[in-house]
Amino acid sequence: MQVVKYNFQKHGDDRGMLIALEELKDFPFEIKRVYYMYDTVAGVRRGFHAHKQLQQILIAVHGRCVIHLDNGTETEEVVLDKPYEGLYISNDMWREMYDFSPDAVLMVLASEYYDESDYIRDYDEFLEYVKNSTKQ
Ligand code: TYD
Repeated sequence: MQVVKYNFQKHGDDRGMLIALEELKDFPFEIKRVYYMYDTVAGVRRGFHAHKQLQQILIAVHGRCVIHLDNGTETEEVVLDKPYEGLYISNDMWREMYDFSPDAVLMVLASEYYDESDYIRDYDEFLEYVKNSTKQ
């Protein structure tokens, strides 16, 4: 599986670091929504879904976590532990998030508003969905 991880430009000087992200320039979609997870309880694994349309960029702005990606045929475990790295997740991709450090803040830039009808929460349904979408 080809994992798309962006290495964002760092603006650093003797005062510290700064990252600036611009839609369609630093990643390939317009942002409709931003959300973030923090105080994730130790041992928790979350996500367990795919999206029909939604594209996302995941950034561990603080701390560390691991993302499990599954495109229906291959899987990949991606460590996020750098605030200047962004993991791109396309639609049609099953994802789970785990191994959150106690200080982890996982920020997500999303291409769509929150829409429950865009979720595929059943793994077998996901496998059917990708099988049918690659047929066309
Ligand atoms: P949930 O989908 O369970 O998170 P995860 O995919 O990480 O397991 O979302 C947790 C709660 O937050 C759930 O009640 C829905 C709500 N929520 C929103 O209201 N807006 C959002 O953009 C997101 C992602 C979740």
